[in-house]
Amino acid sequence: MQMLAPAKINLSLDVLGRRDDGYHQVSMVMQTIALFDRVHVEEVSRSGVFLSGGSSEAPPDRSNLVYRAAALVLARAGRTGGVAIDLVKNIPVAAGLAGGSSDAAITIKLMNRLLGLGWSLAEMEALAAELGSDVPFLIRGGTALASGRGEQLTALPAAPTFWLVVVKPPFGASTPRVYQALGAPPYPGGQHREGATAKVMAALAAGSYGALIAAVGNDLEQVTIGWHQELQELKEALVRHGCDRALMSGSGPTILGFTEHEDVARQAAQAIEQSAYWSGYGVWVAKTLTEQEGNEG
Ligand code: C5P
Repeated sequence: MQMLAPAKINLSLDVLGRRDDGYHQVSMVMQTIALFDRVHVEEVSRSGVFLSGGSSEAPPDRSNLVYRAAALVLARAGRTGGVAIDLVKNIPVAAGLAGGSSDAAITIKLMNRLLGLGWSLAEMEALAAELGSDVPFLIRGGTALASGRGEQLTALPAAPTFWLVVVKPPFGASTPRVYQALGAPPYPGGQHREGATAKVMAALAAGSYGALIAAVGNDLEQVTIGWHQELQELKEALVRHGCDRALMSGSGPTILGFTEHEDVARQAAQAIEQSAYWSGYGVWVAKTLTEQEGNEG
């Protein structure tokens, strides 16, 4: 049994403050996009988790979030048998696209079905929260508000369909390091002024792509772009090549260009791909997914 695991992007990421448990309080609008890994799961008679595939950056060992997800499901379900899982990576790693989190969420969903566990979406989200802050959102996908440390979800009206140029630099960003470097509050989108999340939610309620791209924002940009000034140049290049707006996803370093038009996205992607200046940067074109489309994947 297999399923596609979609990447996520942030339409907004407001950091509200630091918490005593080492996490940051956030308010963010998350969106799944049609850029996928693939997870295949089979039941085996030997007990344990047998993981294959992955990539050099996401090796198929015990450190992989898929391994941890599968082991957690077997333990909670009280199953003595095992599973063989094959992971095909396509979503870049340490990119701000939650690829590993999505692989883990899809592993939970697949095993729920394969082993006939009968867990509800809410039950799977609770389990997912034990694996990481972004994992619960990827159980349902689509468009949602994530608060707390990112694990508390509220459904939002689906975003109008649009296209993304997804550009991953030839280096990664560590989420804990990025949050740590944010330092002490106040933060740009924090309690002291209206952050991007409220504006993005208003744009979603109005169903307006124009209002949405005017509203998007990410408080972590200042950290990651502060370390890598070329990301600012990359944002400007995407807009110069026709995107309406450009924004970093999550803790980065992936930069997203937004457009309503597939041909504009493909032309901008080609311009970046063909430029010697951006050699080594990975480029993809993907459209937004609704929760329903994600489930069909
Ligand atoms: O939850 P997850 O394991 O993905 O988080 C990884 C790290 O990122 C945390 O240990 C923390 O350092 C940082 N983080 C944070 N605030 C969040 C989410 C993650 O500080 N809301």
